[in-house]
Amino acid sequence: MAISRVWISAIVLALLVFTPALAQEEAAASSPEAEAEAAPSFVLSLDHSNFSETVAKHPFILVEFYAPWCGHCKRLAPEYEKAASILSKNDPPIVLAMVDANDDVNKELASKYEIRGFPTLKILRNGGDVIEEYKGPREADGIVEYLKKQAGPASSVIGSVEDAGSLIVDKKIFIVGIFQEFSGEKFENFIKVAEKLRADYDFGHTLEAKFLPRGDPNAKLPVVRLFKPFDELFVDFEDFDIDALEKFIESASMPIVATFDNDPSNHPFLTKFFNSPNSKALLFLNFSSENFDTFKSNLYEIAEKYKGENISFLIGDLEASQGAFQYFGLKEDQVPLIIIQENDGKKYLQPNLSPDQIASWVKEYTDGNLKPYRKSEPIPEVNNEPVKIVVADNLHEVVFNSGKNVLLEFYAPWCGHCKKLAPILDEVAISFENDGDVVIAKMDATVNDVPSEFDVQGYPTLYFSSASGKLSQYEGDRTADDIINYVKSNKDTTSRSDSTDTVKVETESTDSVRDEL
Ligand SMILES: *[C@@H]1O[C@H](CO)[C@@H](O)[C@H](O)[C@H]1NC(C)=O
Ligand SMILES: *[C@@H]1O[C@H](CO)[C@@H](O)[C@H](O)[C@H]1NC(C)=O
Ligand SMILES: *[C@@H]1O[C@H](CO)[C@@H](O)[C@H](O)[C@H]1NC(C)=O
Repeated sequence: MAISRVWISAIVLALLVFTPALAQEEAAASSPEAEAEAAPSFVLSLDHSNFSETVAKHPFILVEFYAPWCGHCKRLAPEYEKAASILSKNDPPIVLAMVDANDDVNKELASKYEIRGFPTLKILRNGGDVIEEYKGPREADGIVEYLKKQAGPASSVIGSVEDAGSLIVDKKIFIVGIFQEFSGEKFENFIKVAEKLRADYDFGHTLEAKFLPRGDPNAKLPVVRLFKPFDELFVDFEDFDIDALEKFIESASMPIVATFDNDPSNHPFLTKFFNSPNSKALLFLNFSSENFDTFKSNLYEIAEKYKGENISFLIGDLEASQGAFQYFGLKEDQVPLIIIQENDGKKYLQPNLSPDQIASWVKEYTDGNLKPYRKSEPIPEVNNEPVKIVVADNLHEVVFNSGKNVLLEFYAPWCGHCKKLAPILDEVAISFENDGDVVIAKMDATVNDVPSEFDVQGYPTLYFSSASGKLSQYEGDRTADDIINYVKSNKDTTSRSDSTDTVKVETESTDSVRDEL
């Protein structure tokens, strides 16, 4: 679960980072105008002493929580300033503010607003009573446009065909309430839902269905019509209960098959796709390949069939999928491939399949006939360093079935704390080299699946599995002395040396370590 969330943000972010909008942002940041920082700022600088009173004065304010050392914050700064300057002339003016959330005096603010990364932008309404995530662009014009819309009414009046034409545009979800009059409980519920979901969707209301581009102009009123740029293009809904309406909007705005490619207009749907609690079936292929259309139509047919069940479908372009391939340990020569990931992390894979194999493979999956797929580096042929290398494919053998006391580090190659720990683990391993009951080992958790026995939320994570199989997480200090003492006091001496599964790695290694010394 935790890992899949990491993956969601990793690939969705990887996609977003390469959009042209951000490339422009970088260019703007290094342009000469951007450096004219001495001029008086239109951005209010706030701290713990005046935050509440300032926010209380404004019905609508955007606050950036930043840290002085944060690169993304520095890139945002000139755009933010420019947007603040433009919006100060808006009628009514829209106020932009910033808080150094890294400064100790503002720690309480940072925790109240749940700041976990920089920059974090929040829209505060009604003097701070309503807090919303800012989900708009990061360049000046985009910020201006987004905030003007967010500061205005949650739902726009559609009074003509032209209004409808300018509001209901391609590539976006738009939700229209069609009423006999703009009053009554149903109308009010619609507006409440619009206010609640305005950061994610666009809303409008009208008295005339005939102004709208699609759907029955003589529909029975009131009705909610959701326009979408995919599948059936619009859906009507007649229940004005707030919860029912919200659920309808969430589910009707998900494509039958999500598309994973470099087109930014698909990204909002991807975030929703990966956040859904369903199992996820991902079909990856080269969108330029000649049988792409056959793959696509077959997958749609299958997805239609499974609609309403707990499995969601995605079609992904090889060009855009590097992050996903890394995450799953897949190779380009395996496409076209389909992989299903369940929420507990279990995965199923079929590489090199043809369009007409998809249906039967998914059926095999739902019938429970498939063997899970595990991402693993190859089992190393030589493993003679003091700290042994464990991969997913030999983890059970080395850790649980070896009858040894094993200290296992889960690390990532890029992780600084792991690098600091490396010589310390070496020292620990060398100190146990004459103890045949103890193994010190490490696994690169970015290229090997972590079995569900372990809860790895960050790197490094250390676990100790005693010879008798008792598993515990090591949470002491990361010094050689502390780790050595921990292993000594937690290890079992009753080694299951009768086990036939003893690790080959071990016997090889002891000699080699001696050679080295
Ligand atoms: C808030 O207080 C800080 C520090 O005292 C000051 O620099 C800043 O200008 C104040 N901001 C406003 C809007 O009063
Ligand atoms: C996808 O297929 C096209 C056409 O065959 C080819 O030019 C392109 O290099 C392929 N892309 C990848 C990432 O393999
Ligand atoms: C999906 O639903 C089926 C039957 O309703 C159930 O057996 C299965 O465990 C569910 N899978 C997930 C991942 O929730």
